[in-house]
Amino acid sequence: MRERLEALQQAALADLQNVETQQQLNDLRIQYLGKKGELTEVLRGMAQLSAEERPLVGQVTNETRKAIEDVIEQKQALFARLETERRLQSETIDVTLPGRAVRAGALHPLNKIIEEVEDIFIGMGYTVEEGPEVEQDHYNFEMLNLPKDHPARDMQDTFYVTEEILLRTHTSPVQVRTMLAKKGEVPVKIICPGRVYRRDDDDATHSHMFTQIEGLVIDKKVRMSDLKGTLLQFVKQMFGEQTQIRLRPSFFPFTEPSAEVDVTCVMCKGHGCRVCKQTGWLEILGSGMVHPRVLEMAGYDPQEYSGFAFGMGVERIAMLKYGIDDIRHFYTGDLRFLRQFARL
Ligand code: PHE
Repeated sequence: MRERLEALQQAALADLQNVETQQQLNDLRIQYLGKKGELTEVLRGMAQLSAEERPLVGQVTNETRKAIEDVIEQKQALFARLETERRLQSETIDVTLPGRAVRAGALHPLNKIIEEVEDIFIGMGYTVEEGPEVEQDHYNFEMLNLPKDHPARDMQDTFYVTEEILLRTHTSPVQVRTMLAKKGEVPVKIICPGRVYRRDDDDATHSHMFTQIEGLVIDKKVRMSDLKGTLLQFVKQMFGEQTQIRLRPSFFPFTEPSAEVDVTCVMCKGHGCRVCKQTGWLEILGSGMVHPRVLEMAGYDPQEYSGFAFGMGVERIAMLKYGIDDIRHFYTGDLRFLRQFARL
């Protein structure tokens, strides 16, 4: 029996010497030490041994088991080390490789201007409203004192969808929608940014689609001086403390009186240059006191309430502020153009 154990040990150690894979090692462990393994098989013979022999053989058996187990453990440790090394090799990181830059997006210059204007007016207690770009003739014209055959409709050449539905030509219909929603309540103090559409031939300064920001204030005793003061405050924040405004008489069917508002030329600070055509002034918006007819139609008694409104072109302001010479740059999505505003 002792010889069988020795032979078993030798065979096991020889086999273990040659194992190359984890799988082979597992197989050998089962073959020699497993429940149905060779060592167990030898131990069956114990039953036939005498009482004196048994402890001796028992001891040898334990030694044999221990010897085989030790080698298996060593091999196991070796395989673990090799596996770690292999993974370190295959998963090495080249810390000298240049990193992949994460390109941060940036606001479109028009959206930057809109946010800036919004911030300034929110600071003066206004809220921001929006309205649909596909609009009804009713809100875009009729309710703004522009009946069907009014000659002033020609001021804004319109894209019609049907006879009653059109692409809004200005953000002024949002004035009407807001007043109707307020149901005669005051104060109304809103601005409204959004896209508008006109049948224009596109060139460096015209686009069939552009962006406006509308403003509307309705309350008791709102006067023209409130309009003037509000706009002066706005341009000072937008273009700098030195900026002045100039109001020129104008006409819009929905305001009376109406005024075009000029600001000190941002390029030459009023001295006269090519951009302002030597006048020192730049036109940036149309404005006026809300027409009594418009107030009345929208449910505000013109005897009791008054208001002012204005509408500015966002592209024009962006072009002046950033020195952009062609309106089409805003819409072509050229990254070389857009990236210039990422850090402004
Ligand atoms: N809606 C006018 C335009 O687009 C601008 C404007 C708005 C004028 C509000 C007066 C009051 O030309």
